[in-house]
Amino acid sequence: MTAAQYLESNKQKFLDELFELLRIPSISADTAYKGDVEAAAFYIKDKLIAAGADKVEICPTAGNPIVYGEKIIDPNLPTVLVYGHYDVQPAVPLELWDTPPFEPTIRATEVHPNGAIFARGACDDKGQVYMHVKAFEIMMATGTLACNVKFMIEGEEEVGSTNLGPFCIANKERLKADVVLISDTSIIANDTPSIDCGLRGLSYVEVEVTGPNRDLHSGVYGGAVANPINILAKMIASMHDDKNHITIPGFYDKVLELSAAERAEINKAPFNLEEYKKDLGIGDVWGEEGFNVLERTGIRPTLDCNGIWGGYIGEGAKTVLPSKAFAKISMRLVPNQDSHSITELFQKHFESIAPAGVKVVVKPHHGGEPVVTPIDSKAYLAAEKAMETTYGKKPIPTRGGGSIPIVALFERELGLKSVLMGFGLDSDALHSPNEHYGLFNYYKGIETITYFFQYFAAK
Ligand code: BES
Ligand code: MN
Ligand code: MN
Repeated sequence: MTAAQYLESNKQKFLDELFELLRIPSISADTAYKGDVEAAAFYIKDKLIAAGADKVEICPTAGNPIVYGEKIIDPNLPTVLVYGHYDVQPAVPLELWDTPPFEPTIRATEVHPNGAIFARGACDDKGQVYMHVKAFEIMMATGTLACNVKFMIEGEEEVGSTNLGPFCIANKERLKADVVLISDTSIIANDTPSIDCGLRGLSYVEVEVTGPNRDLHSGVYGGAVANPINILAKMIASMHDDKNHITIPGFYDKVLELSAAERAEINKAPFNLEEYKKDLGIGDVWGEEGFNVLERTGIRPTLDCNGIWGGYIGEGAKTVLPSKAFAKISMRLVPNQDSHSITELFQKHFESIAPAGVKVVVKPHHGGEPVVTPIDSKAYLAAEKAMETTYGKKPIPTRGGGSIPIVALFERELGLKSVLMGFGLDSDALHSPNEHYGLFNYYKGIETITYFFQYFAAK
């Protein structure tokens, strides 16, 4: 049986299995789901074993386990290290889902006329991880696996991969490979394949602003005491100037400015501003003066408030001048910014702009470094050729706006470059209610991965 025939006759089975994986609520941000996180790890482990992987192991960490497995067919052949994550983002707010997040269902959409799987993690990243498990099964079952493969599937990507770094450092020998292959990014559209060749880094902080030592009557004290919510809102607003540049001193110092030629290269990707606005229901885009949307998301750093709270938010009105206000703030970073220095710059700046009437505390969360991946490597060319084979079009190199913090560490600690051969769409509602993944994308991904191995193994 050929690989294509095997895929064709196992389509339903491949879908049923992914559904089973999607039913496990492996939410890493919430410790209440610890058991489910482990169940998802065991599910992947069992399927890797069933497909024929060796040395399959659930590797415990200080946090969630890492699933490892390998198939070494010949030590002289190249080795691909497949990385992905089985953990998912929280599904809240649940009321905004049309169908429950952990009961996968198939519905057609405008961009997925042949149907999409609706479930948390469908695209990010269970659906994409599972394509690799099934591509491996196909290659094993049809005797077409042409090089060595190692799997490292983690359960903490959505909370910053804190324990994966130490695991990589402690397992350098076991993780020896020629390239890391990752499907956890997007393509431009189902008729426009692309490969991300860069990801942004991340610096994430939580801030606490305290005014008076207790909640006050907003009439008795209002007007004479700093309101931490008012102050916090003003402090956040002041971090962009009227050109939407970030005002933190030194923030742009290390930003790598691209040459006109490099910018032209990035702008070769098709982009329709009107469709973009229509899709998001916005009257206009917003961002740093002097850059367009592709540049603002691909090669420029950002500062965004992700959440802000404080005071009274219950029903009706309560006249209160609150004691505290909070916010979560993320900064997306680009080469050659570094998350530790940026977090420090933020902290210094935030403290310096706080008026005397409040006290501020800045608590750094996880971070990650930006990466740029090569587009002339043997692995990139294999991915390019694989996509060209299955989509009938050469993929366009793009810059992804999201972050996969561990990719920079693979390079630094393991000396490995990555290929970001993802198959999702930005419109698949990752991290949002009604996340979904196209059936077309799922099967096309499986097929493309088998070609990647074939081309990468070829001399
Ligand atoms: N798969 C995404 C990253 C991504 C999505 C990159 C689409 C490019 C295109 C990943 O799971 C993710 O969500 N990463 C987080 C960072 C993490 C530290 C929470 C992110 O980008 O917010
Ligand atoms: Mn992901
Ligand atoms: Mn994610």
